[in-house]
Amino acid sequence: MRLLVTRRLPDSVEARAARDYTATLNPTDQPMSRAALAAAEVDGVLCCAVDRFDAETIAVLQPSVRVLATFSVGVDHIDLAAAQARGLIVTNTPDVLTDATADIAMLLILAACRRAGEGERMVRAGRWTGWTPTQLMGLHLSTRRLGIYGMGRIGQALAARARAFGMAIHYHNRTRLPPDQELGAIYHSNVDSLCHVADVLSLNAPATATTERLIDARRLSLLPPGAVLVNTARGALVDDEAVIAALTSGHLAAAGLDVFRGEPALHPGYLSLENAVLLPHLGSATVETRTAMGMKALDNLDAVRAEQEPPDRVV
Ligand code: DGY
Repeated sequence: MRLLVTRRLPDSVEARAARDYTATLNPTDQPMSRAALAAAEVDGVLCCAVDRFDAETIAVLQPSVRVLATFSVGVDHIDLAAAQARGLIVTNTPDVLTDATADIAMLLILAACRRAGEGERMVRAGRWTGWTPTQLMGLHLSTRRLGIYGMGRIGQALAARARAFGMAIHYHNRTRLPPDQELGAIYHSNVDSLCHVADVLSLNAPATATTERLIDARRLSLLPPGAVLVNTARGALVDDEAVIAALTSGHLAAAGLDVFRGEPALHPGYLSLENAVLLPHLGSATVETRTAMGMKALDNLDAVRAEQEPPDRVV
């Protein structure tokens, strides 16, 4: 099977791809142009969350391409309807990035609540004049309610971490979890109700038409004054102008953001805000997780090559 790998991947993943496939590897971190994708005479493509496979791009792929295995759990970069219409199999990499992403969500909750970014910048800039009783006072976690929007694998893993910090867990999900997964978390049947109680609101749901700008000025106004917003899902879930306005007014005490609309570009308004903790989409970025994601993508490709149902088929 001829395979195109669109980005540089961990060494062991590339080695397996080169061993088992007639593989064309991209030795760089640079995206491939639509023309290069169109010219690739391959049977499968291993792509990433930052490679956009919209209807136009899918339309120009060689007819031989039968599978698009994305090195991501998110599939919002792929026009699934166009893929399906063309008979393309699409697979993703769920489960293996759950812990790493929940860790980054917890890190952002801590960093935003405890003003870690501000403190780090102060020390590095030589502006730290010494400990004072009122310096950089943040928010205590164990008295606060964490509202989780999207209680799938990552949301539940975040809940487990936040419980260890003494936070009370509230959540909204399309369907209520059974008690053995809910573990005492309080279910809200709608987003507004969750917003009313979320001292910290964490977004853990995919980018879809339903979640586009879910957190807008109105929903932000429902959060308790001094709330904290954390986003490790996708930038499309928030209205950046509204978040920046809430951070500026102090209605939001802080935000921790790992993902941005149009990344790597981001709304310039965030850059000057001391109360915004900004990370470069690190959710799954551990050696173990990125390797496991690559191996999972290859497992899916192996299944397609063997004419079997891939374990993580999306369409
Ligand atoms: C995903 O898998 O969707 C992440 O955003 C990239 O690791």
